[in-house]
Amino acid sequence: LFSSVELAPRDPILGLYETFNADSNPNKVNLGVGVYFTEEGKIPLLRAVQVAEKMILENPKARGYLPIEGIAAYNNGVQQLLFSSETEMTGAGRSASFETLGGTGALKVGADFLKRLKPNAKVAISDPSWENHRALFEGAGFEVVNYPYYDPTTRGVNFTEMKAYLSAMPADSIIVLHACCHNPTGADLSPAQWEEVVTICQEKKLIPFLDLAYQGFADGIFEDGLAVRLFTQSGLSFFIASSFSKSFSLYGERVGALSVVTQSKEETAKVVSQIKRVIRTNYSNPPTHGATIVATVLNDTALRNMWEQELMEMRDRIKAMRELLVTELKAAGANKDFEFIKVQRGMFSYTGLSKEQVDRLINEHSVYAVGTGRICVASLNTKNIKTVAQGIAAVL
Ligand code: LMR
Repeated sequence: LFSSVELAPRDPILGLYETFNADSNPNKVNLGVGVYFTEEGKIPLLRAVQVAEKMILENPKARGYLPIEGIAAYNNGVQQLLFSSETEMTGAGRSASFETLGGTGALKVGADFLKRLKPNAKVAISDPSWENHRALFEGAGFEVVNYPYYDPTTRGVNFTEMKAYLSAMPADSIIVLHACCHNPTGADLSPAQWEEVVTICQEKKLIPFLDLAYQGFADGIFEDGLAVRLFTQSGLSFFIASSFSKSFSLYGERVGALSVVTQSKEETAKVVSQIKRVIRTNYSNPPTHGATIVATVLNDTALRNMWEQELMEMRDRIKAMRELLVTELKAAGANKDFEFIKVQRGMFSYTGLSKEQVDRLINEHSVYAVGTGRICVASLNTKNIKTVAQGIAAVL
């Protein structure tokens, strides 16, 4: 049965854990996977999460199956974060959210549903994009192409080429957009550019699929939801995959959501019924614990404020690490201008290091990064930053 099975390549991001764990260097640093670590080098257990868990334990509940779409209070919380109360849309029943297994689960459910709806559509992802985007949509049976995005000379977005490419896409193409904190480059569209992208999607009848895995890591929950609001106000139908892995530091709980925005309440009811079928045949229904924590926090004003405060602390610490990394790179004698690291947004910096330089960084300095040159700035602290800066300076 298995004699013809070939060895699959290691996952470019999660696969780094294996080599990192086997490395005996006591000063090793893992900047590969997108995980936030504290100054003490620990994954935080947020105060708001701890309080919520205590509340849940004080009132223990049996674990029956959840509805296919997940916990209603959780899905309502997701809607509040995405659409905010001012938009008329939520009241008009134009949207629905589903609790999914992380942001990846949301993308997978959305992709499977779209395959039934638009089997011949092309999917366009940014060049470059999160490694899993291509694999996910190809896995769902789509042809995946790249639209121009990052310009290594300006270290920003090549918006002229991006617009030209999207404008030439056939109607009904699915356009995957990073709503904020672009992964891997940290280069985001400006509000004015978002408005232009919305207009292109309207005029060319494209299907937007927003990936919002880092809401709160650029400027704040509300600010980072701009793209979602613009698409909502435009009247387009679209998808959003969102995640609480990073913003709640609940990576292992797999708490994400798929949200859809439709044309009407009646349409929403039909779409919901079909997406429930997709979920049922993928994993039946979602798990209870992580989403109960998130729902508890989002539906309690004091806890929600506490969480937003903690999110701000994470965001500010990442910004401080960006500043410090630039200083330390200079001090280490790096023969290159790294000021751009301060401008990039979110957890990552696209350093411009080549695959060969990353290999040397790993093999000679035990500093782990993704082969594309992406490093997770959120894993830096004042103790490991010199090792990282000196390693980078040495391989340049
Ligand atoms: C990342 O890009 O490192 C994260 O989104 C984790 C993952 O699943 O790849």
